[in-house]
Amino acid sequence: MKGEYDHFMLKEIFEQPDSLLNSMRGRIELSASSVFSHVPTEEIADGTGGPGKKTTPKQVRFNVPSFPRGLDKPRIVLGGLSEHLNTMNRSRRLMFVGCGTSFHAAVAARGFIEEMAEIPVDLQLASDLMDRQCPIFREDTCIFLSQSGETADTLQALRYAKARGALCVGVTNTVGSAIARETDCGVYIHCGAEIGVASTKAYTSQIVVLTMIALAMAANKNDKAARSEEVINALVSLPEIVRKALQLDKHIQSLAKELYEEQSLLVFGRGYNYSTSLEAALKVKELAYMHSEGINAGEMKHGPLALIDSNLPVIVVCTKTDAVYPKMVSVIEQLRARQARLIVLCTEDDEELISQKDKFASLIIVPSSVDILQPVVNIVPLQLLSYHLTVLREFDVDQPRNLAKSVTVT
Ligand code: F6R
Repeated sequence: MKGEYDHFMLKEIFEQPDSLLNSMRGRIELSASSVFSHVPTEEIADGTGGPGKKTTPKQVRFNVPSFPRGLDKPRIVLGGLSEHLNTMNRSRRLMFVGCGTSFHAAVAARGFIEEMAEIPVDLQLASDLMDRQCPIFREDTCIFLSQSGETADTLQALRYAKARGALCVGVTNTVGSAIARETDCGVYIHCGAEIGVASTKAYTSQIVVLTMIALAMAANKNDKAARSEEVINALVSLPEIVRKALQLDKHIQSLAKELYEEQSLLVFGRGYNYSTSLEAALKVKELAYMHSEGINAGEMKHGPLALIDSNLPVIVVCTKTDAVYPKMVSVIEQLRARQARLIVLCTEDDEELISQKDKFASLIIVPSSVDILQPVVNIVPLQLLSYHLTVLREFDVDQPRNLAKSVTVT
């Protein structure tokens, strides 16, 4: 049921604080001393400050009922993988396979998986893997991402990898789906039923689950303990941060009014947020039927810069939590030098960019998380943008033309 919402997509976007929590429930054990540095001040459900009381974000300590405490160090418990983590850690390559939004989730998580697992990570579009008959070996671990668990291209790639002896892991939302049944092991994302054809809450839950898989793989590495603790604490805070990002809805609706008659929209990102640019552009094109391209900003000078003029709207994802932030600031400067119509997405602690507000066509200011989880926060206003553009252009939000929720043919 859509309840108070006009469309399932909007409901599913707004459900994300809960769907993210459900993806993590029962899978995170906190240390007795966990301290949360990414919790917004106003809305702490059960904190030392109590609801509504101002607390200092850097020192917040709060109990989340879903996450038991007690160990020396926090840890991730993924029952479906526990017997296979050793094999995964010994594999010669981790190959992530998916289509569309599911593939983008793998793009988002790749850097963190490489960092934690220290194993080469390969990303494959399922259809392309099959077109190339990509070599796969017994020493590989192949991880199949699919919200529906029924996507024909992904299923075909799974059968192909299985026949070659690779360990096959499923990351799906649909219990008992073909991919869940045919993989050797897996993790459900548990984000709840997704009805809107465009995937929203499944995308953010997929990133969270891939992050947890990377953490589980690094559980026995002492040199990763501090980083793991930082990311686990940020996971716990994430639902509240996403709730805060959702408050941008009115601002995004006004931005959509400025953009809905445009023919094209570019989205630049790099590092962790290359995925954000791909995913935002996919949502805009599939729902609003507006041409949109997600571009890796590192490639800007190798072609896309030729498109830039003062009319074409360009969204630049430039969040400070990312190691590539200085490079993105430089991208903004180069685009500004060409009079680009810039919509900048930055974090709320970014005084430098916020002070330049008047120089941009628009500014989207989001709360901060940790680098690997920032794409989860950043996509929220861009999901909302695609939604409002579609409503203003008077297209069917929940059932875009020519698309199906489960693509069961290749
Ligand atoms: C985009 C979208 C599609 C799916 C793709 C894979 O919003 O929904 O790109 O992500 O068809 O579907 P699953 O994840 O079910 O395999």
